[in-house]
Amino acid sequence: MNMEILEAASLLVMSGTIPGHYCCPLSPNTLPFLSPLKINRNGRRKRAPLYLRASSNSDTRQNFPRLCGTLPAYHRSQFVTTQCQRIEKIAEITNEDGNGTNGTWVKDAVSKASQVLGDVNGQKAIGFENGVIESSDDKSTPVGAANSASPKKRGNSVEDEAWRLLQESMVFYCGSPVGTIAAKDPSDSNVLNYDQVFIRDFIPSGIAFLLKGEYDIVRNFILHTLQLQSWEKTMDCHSPGQGLMPASFKVRTVPLDGDDSATEEVLDPDFGEAAIGRVAPVDSGLWWIILLRAYGKCSGDLSVQERIDVQTGIKMILKLCLADGFDMFPTLLVTDGSCMIDRRMGIHGHPLEIQALFYSALLCAREMLAPEDGSADLIRALNNRLIALSFHIREYYWVDMQKLNEIYRYKTEEYSYDAVNKFNIYPDQVSPWLVEWMPCKGGYLIGNLQPAHMDFRFFSLGNLWSIVSSLATTHQSHAILDLIEAKWSDLVADMPFKICYPTLEGQEWRIITGSDPKNTPWSYHNGGSWPTLLWQLAVACIKMNRPEIAAKAVEVAEKRIATDRWPEYYDSKRARFIGKQARLYQTWSIAGFLVAKLLLEKPEAAKNLWNEEDAEIVNALNIMVEPRRKRGRKVLKKTYIV
Ligand code: GLC
Repeated sequence: MNMEILEAASLLVMSGTIPGHYCCPLSPNTLPFLSPLKINRNGRRKRAPLYLRASSNSDTRQNFPRLCGTLPAYHRSQFVTTQCQRIEKIAEITNEDGNGTNGTWVKDAVSKASQVLGDVNGQKAIGFENGVIESSDDKSTPVGAANSASPKKRGNSVEDEAWRLLQESMVFYCGSPVGTIAAKDPSDSNVLNYDQVFIRDFIPSGIAFLLKGEYDIVRNFILHTLQLQSWEKTMDCHSPGQGLMPASFKVRTVPLDGDDSATEEVLDPDFGEAAIGRVAPVDSGLWWIILLRAYGKCSGDLSVQERIDVQTGIKMILKLCLADGFDMFPTLLVTDGSCMIDRRMGIHGHPLEIQALFYSALLCAREMLAPEDGSADLIRALNNRLIALSFHIREYYWVDMQKLNEIYRYKTEEYSYDAVNKFNIYPDQVSPWLVEWMPCKGGYLIGNLQPAHMDFRFFSLGNLWSIVSSLATTHQSHAILDLIEAKWSDLVADMPFKICYPTLEGQEWRIITGSDPKNTPWSYHNGGSWPTLLWQLAVACIKMNRPEIAAKAVEVAEKRIATDRWPEYYDSKRARFIGKQARLYQTWSIAGFLVAKLLLEKPEAAKNLWNEEDAEIVNALNIMVEPRRKRGRKVLKKTYIV
């Protein structure tokens, strides 16, 4: 069978057109027993489940044998025992690691980062004397106020606890670790879906495992979630485009069909059809691609990304994202709640977070896609989109003092190709908070852009990931970090990092959130503070050779995060309270903190997570902008639509 036919066959199987049997891929590391691996897509609807034969879409280059079969009940106890053994084994490794790491880690982290990255822009001096971190911008953070242990000692124990908790959050399927549970809060009886493995929540967990050299769980996660990629997900009899990755999945143990004495494990994904608000997880597939590339870079194992089923999975995500629609913009058009902010928060349209992840995923996919005739069109579309997207975001989403002043003086109702105010923004949208808030030095990318609407809220993840992915220019990236430093008391205060700033209040909150009691001002998504964002902050700061900013934020978190039992989020303007409805022992708070610490200790590893600025894109942007400035719209219209 040639490659194209194999690929087409795998597409058919993945789409559920061909019923098959899905079986457990047995690697040298998985356990020597057989298990039925049914993927229960329709459990709740009680429809007959489909089976996928792994061998139909498996790669001939794969060395692992795949076995199919049924696990009798007595084998289950063996399965549980083996899980326990595995956890113990990891625990031993942890202890060894825990003793050997840390030290005066802030100092070390900064000096290591300087060594690795070079002193490109006159590295700021950072001191760590008498429990106070001092940076040259004169802002100092006293440490040790909340905890009398020395920062060094506390740092060690908090990091050790994080690693232990992360391992305890592991979820096993067929004896192999496949993800981490969203939260393991013993005090909360109302688990909702926090007992599931969320794709987006697993990313910092996966990276923590990669940084610790634990590659299996990440590989398993990648391959198992690939098997879940949009089969026959339906909502109200409607199936969305293929390529969608679930928001989350759960490992369920169910009675084996026709055999009361046996059980089997099934993977039950949720594509948003059960999620609160029925939100579509647009970010899942993008994060999946980003993690896949990080796995290859950190482990050196490129065989996973080279597999035909994985290549097909990448292409399916890309095709879904690059499909034509009615939209005129190169940004991805999505519904509200399609990302980390998974409830109504007025971010429908073209939210920055999705655009930054989209850009990053396109770059990562381009790096991994095997060159072959069949994908030439896709690669072409991908390249065009990268250029148009970066132009659009850099040009139209950027605000700083100068740009604000331009917007403030905009003329409106311009009908022409050369309009200055292309989106017909009414200057009244420059609201008083923004006039006060924008620092003289610094700037940021706005949250969303629509006709006659700029969402000026500062969304942290979108801005940080724009730095990480090089969607923002170098100048813009530094300016975002300048703004973070200037607005420290708004964005970090007592717990990093504010999810967005400022909040929706009063009538605006009522209309936009639908009077959501969870998203009241300074809580949850509406200006709450999320420790998980520390890891993205760390990657962004290390990339820009300014690790001291992230180190300072980690130091703030370290003072109370373990004592507070690793909350999901914090409330109040300065993040002084544990969030009203926050889960405790939230895995991505634990993993986000841990990844930030590990990266600051070993900054060279952060290179595996960011995207360098692409010279070809920069060239194309220059070519695009120059003729347009000189010759008007003719060249532009012919070449790219921006
Ligand atoms: C909340 C968050 C979402 C996260 C989920 C699981 O719904 O808004 O981003 O994935 O919890 O932790």
